[in-house]
Amino acid sequence: MSDLRDQYARPLRDLRISVTDRCNFRCPYCMPAEVFGPGYAFLRHSQFMSLAELLRILRQFRRAGVEKMRITGGEPLLRPDVPELVRRLKQELGVPDVALTTNGWLLARAAPALRAAGLDRLNVSLDSLHPETFARMSGGGRNLKVARVLQGITAAATLGLPVKINMVVQRGVNDGDIPEMAAWARANGFTLRFIEFMDVGNYNGWCRDLVVPAREIVARLAALWPLEPCSPAYRGEVAARYRYRDGRGEIGLISSVTEPFCRDCHRARLSADGKLYTCLFASTGWNLLGALRSGASDEELFSYLNRVWSGRLDRYSDERAELLARHETRRKIEMSYIGG
Ligand code: GTP
Ligand code: 5AD
Ligand code: SF4
Ligand code: SF4
Repeated sequence: MSDLRDQYARPLRDLRISVTDRCNFRCPYCMPAEVFGPGYAFLRHSQFMSLAELLRILRQFRRAGVEKMRITGGEPLLRPDVPELVRRLKQELGVPDVALTTNGWLLARAAPALRAAGLDRLNVSLDSLHPETFARMSGGGRNLKVARVLQGITAAATLGLPVKINMVVQRGVNDGDIPEMAAWARANGFTLRFIEFMDVGNYNGWCRDLVVPAREIVARLAALWPLEPCSPAYRGEVAARYRYRDGRGEIGLISSVTEPFCRDCHRARLSADGKLYTCLFASTGWNLLGALRSGASDEELFSYLNRVWSGRLDRYSDERAELLARHETRRKIEMSYIGG
């Protein structure tokens, strides 16, 4: 295993691969419709990495120590070649943990091919079981039906794919749904993760008052069903996990705002146009695809990647409070471009 470390001695273990910056939803906390409208400049087709280019780059990440690869978007299932990508990650690159994060809209149809390709697991975003709240939080009005996402989740689970549910919690919007979502997830054997609303991108109208602290969520649920903390499955796990004392499953809390986890951040991100970002809140990326298209050899790509990671200093969530106190704002990449 590579002993590559960044400036805080963090290894590189986990890569999030965005395969498109487009999405069929317009969740206001990620892609507000008034910004991501018909005039928005999405990536053009020629900017996307081909599967062959992507695999060449990913091979260098494997050499650098990456054990877990997560496919994201935008919405990754908008791309029909995702099952083929999964198959090659498993068969050609031997990636131990290949996961996918999706909004679930196209999941019922895609699940069999993903399963056959060897996908290890799936995280599905679902903020509410109520049709109106779901429609509001996915930004699609009445056309987006929660029932269709639930069908996708059932299809995947029926095929034996482990499913986690991601719920972004916003105060006054869907925090009232926490007990109902937890009861539903418990009854169906899904791990539900509550995500604190984050100040990602430049347009999502983030304000601290809308954040429901993870601690508060745990307290609310523990009053209904007693909980106990689980120890992390591995160093740098994003979610803090708790199990129900009655043995009926577990929940996760992703508390980037109130309890940041940068100290153990072993994650890099690759955009669909082949740029490497060393933090979700970065402003600029490192153009691996540009290097590849200018004729860089595998060795050159590998040493480029090593140079970038070795110099890494990112710890945005740790610094957030200070930056906000100083009213300092940075231009950030968009969540839909980098995939969370
Ligand atoms: P598991 O491997 O199943 O634990 O998945 P994950 O939580 O790493 O990935 P997922 O795509 O389900 O993301 C859940 C939430 O965690 C999203 O809101 C992500 O943006 C957020 N998240 C993931 N990694 C990071 C990170 O390094 N920093 C911050 N601030 N948030 C992250
Ligand atoms: N804050 C927290 N989580 C977010 N996600 C998207 N935007 C935000 C935000 N502003 C979540 C999605 C998905 C995951 C990849 O990131 O709901 O589950
Ligand atoms: Fe699309 Fe996911 Fe962003 Fe919602 S959170 S707009 S589903 S990429
Ligand atoms: Fe890692 Fe940046 Fe998230 Fe901190 S804010 S955990 S450094 S991606």
